[in-house]
Amino acid sequence: MKVFITGATGLVGAHLAVDLLKKGYSVRALRRSSSNLKTIQAVFACYGATALFSRIEWVEGDTTDYYSIEDNLEGVDLVYHAAALISYWPREFALMEKINVEGTANVVNACLHKGIKKLAFVSSAAALGHDVHTRHYTEKTPWKQSTFVTHYGISKYNAEREVWRGAEEGLDVIIVNPVVVIGPGDWTKGSSEIITSIDKGLKFYSDRITGFVDARDVAQATIQLMESDIKNERFVLCAENVVWKDIFAQIANALGKKAPSIKAPEGVLVNLVVLLEKLNRQ
Ligand SMILES: NC(=O)c1ccc[n+]([C@@H]2O[C@H](COP(=O)([O-])OP(=O)(O)OC[C@H]3O[C@@H](n4cnc5c(N)ncnc54)[C@H](OP(=O)(O)O)[C@@H]3O)[C@@H](O)[C@H]2O)c1
Repeated sequence: MKVFITGATGLVGAHLAVDLLKKGYSVRALRRSSSNLKTIQAVFACYGATALFSRIEWVEGDTTDYYSIEDNLEGVDLVYHAAALISYWPREFALMEKINVEGTANVVNACLHKGIKKLAFVSSAAALGHDVHTRHYTEKTPWKQSTFVTHYGISKYNAEREVWRGAEEGLDVIIVNPVVVIGPGDWTKGSSEIITSIDKGLKFYSDRITGFVDARDVAQATIQLMESDIKNERFVLCAENVVWKDIFAQIANALGKKAPSIKAPEGVLVNLVVLLEKLNRQ
């Protein structure tokens, strides 16, 4: 069985690649000409799977280039679409919209065109609706525009709409909505950047609560859903909800560093605090 993975050079895609190879799938993975293989190599090394790494069939392309997807789906049975841009920088919003929405539409259209058996789309909890008072949500909570919604969340919600459109047009799909994903890889980017920030002496914490999930669980749950008869449903992937302060303290403790000790001002997102600290260092 041959699978095609987008985003394999990132945290989630790399975990999908290692698990799929371990299960005996043939893996074809998309990389951009600018892609860095540092994350995926670190992930394979972490699981003692360096030998498996050489079995990946790399193809060059970009999800925003339709034919680089369609051409590379020849002989493929299943597609895992994990490529996305996660950004909170206004200057990247247009690019994020293009990669996340147009890129996903390209993947969906290519899957339909090539008769792919099933598509897994790695969406995000940010693409779910929520109760503005309790901030609780489930897979069924309707989408709602509010001050808690980010441009990233909107782009993932619109990407999901492309996937649901594909389902209406006859493609079998499953969607997973992970909360914050943590795992081995490159800790200088994405959600894992928080580890580097704490290592460098992040001073602020937030007493907000966020869901966290292990990258291994995201990969395994997604593969199980793809191997099941379940289709055209979405699933929140969350291990537990944790207070940021507590997880920061756990990370600091594991790194042998001082835990962040200043509470971030009310209403300031912890992401913003981390970014501000980063800017101060540049
Ligand atoms: N990390 C989280 O906390 C989290 C939480 C919920 C959902 N998610 C979702 O999980 C998925 C994977 O996230 P991640 O944490 O693994 O992100 P990541 O580490 O930043 O990796 C992103 C991946 O997408 C690829 N990519 C970006 N734009 C592309 C394009 N135009 N064409 C082809 N590939 C492109 C990147 O390739 P390059 O190497 O070339 O940059 C990289 O492989 C995303 O869909 C994200 O929305 C992540």
